[in-house]
Amino acid sequence: MAANIAVIGTGYVGLTTGACLAHLGHDVVCADIDSQKIDRLNAGEIPILEDGLEDLVREGVQGGRLHFVLGAANSVTDREFVFLCVPTPQGEDGSADLSYIEGAARQISSSLISEAIVINKSTVPVGSTRVVEQALERPDVSVVSNPEFLREGSAVHDFLHPDRVVIGSDDQAAAIRVASIYLGLAAPLMVTDPASAETIKYASNAFLATKISYVNAIAAVCEAVGADVNDVVLGMGYDKRIGQEFLRPGPGWGGSCFPKDSHALVRIAEDAGYDFGLLKGVIEVNEQQFERVVQKVAASIDGSVDGKKIAAWGLTFKSRTDDIRDSPAIEIIHRLQAQGAVVTAYDPAIGADIKGITVCTDPYAACEAAEALVVLTEWDEFKWLDLDKVASAMVSPQVIDARNLLDRNRLRQHGFRYEGIGRS
Ligand SMILES: NC(=O)c1ccc[n+]([C@@H]2O[C@H](COP(=O)([O-])OP(=O)(O)OC[C@H]3O[C@@H](n4cnc5c(N)ncnc54)[C@H](O)[C@@H]3O)[C@@H](O)[C@H]2O)c1
Repeated sequence: MAANIAVIGTGYVGLTTGACLAHLGHDVVCADIDSQKIDRLNAGEIPILEDGLEDLVREGVQGGRLHFVLGAANSVTDREFVFLCVPTPQGEDGSADLSYIEGAARQISSSLISEAIVINKSTVPVGSTRVVEQALERPDVSVVSNPEFLREGSAVHDFLHPDRVVIGSDDQAAAIRVASIYLGLAAPLMVTDPASAETIKYASNAFLATKISYVNAIAAVCEAVGADVNDVVLGMGYDKRIGQEFLRPGPGWGGSCFPKDSHALVRIAEDAGYDFGLLKGVIEVNEQQFERVVQKVAASIDGSVDGKKIAAWGLTFKSRTDDIRDSPAIEIIHRLQAQGAVVTAYDPAIGADIKGITVCTDPYAACEAAEALVVLTEWDEFKWLDLDKVASAMVSPQVIDARNLLDRNRLRQHGFRYEGIGRS
């Protein structure tokens, strides 16, 4: 059954949620406080890079089921369901900053219809359902937790084909009403209490970060003992208890979620009296991984990058997104710059200089006069570039492949020195 829905926040999660819910047949109003974003959306422009999103937004708008308005309060006046998809950045002490959530709740409070359900999709610590209830001061309105698990780069696909939908509520009737929104999806639907729903989200992200840190630590062991990490993870992944997903060595994890969510979970545990040493170790291994890549680059040019020209391919935190929030690529480039390197970067999703980094619009131009090339994001197009053209642009053709992305045999045939992660 089609529902009247408002989505507060039109970022990666909110815009995807709004467009996908409209695709499922619901009537959706998306709101943001960013007037430029709303103007662009109303002009038919999609402010983010996300596979399939533009088509879905167009479909929703043309079908009259998807609208964009400025300001949260304006979007909720006749809505039965209101999704909160606002940021929950890391606060100074590592905990999640709930000010956007509380602010949005206060803004919509007096405009909500009676019996509306406010659904929290933002990633929030245990107890935040209560925080939203307090900010709303509307006993006639239910608040339900519904964490989101989509991945940037495949957000639309993940929203429409989720591994599960988790609903956290102590109010069974409200949980059933929220479940009805998702009837168009073929996915397991789980109803639990709000604290468990909120914990599922953090526990899942921290587990995925743990897998990556684990494989990066195994990559360091592989380098020490002369094993090939790619073969090691392939052999591990055939074990169904382990699986192949998230077992790729790389420059460390980052992005808009894993760093803040892992720190928040350490803090949540600490506040509750548990010292989450395992997760602290996972974060520590990740910090070391950034430095390991920096050291590999330095080792490739006589131990120091000071005054050296370095080319970097990749700036986004992973491929198929334009998101650079907490990107390991940016972190590593900044560390190289701090040691005196002159870095020129290329990324297919980034068209201008950012965060003190010179960005070329051509991968070969980024390599001009470089003493080393470091590959930091796993964009497919890097695999197919003209290696002779790259080699002739560089002072010395050598690649530090922090994603184990390129064909090392092919590179060596073209005269490159090659260094990967966990394999030589
Ligand atoms: N990005 C992801 O891959 C992902 C995945 C799962 C969960 N999450 C969680 O979802 C939440 C949102 O993440 P995101 O990446 O979409 O953030 P984002 O920064 O891309 O988008 C948030 C949007 O909310 C808007 N906003 C802030 N306050 C508002 C208000 N009062 N009224 C209306 N709009 C407001 C901002 O202007 C912005 O456009 C976070 O809690 C995040 O942890 C993110």
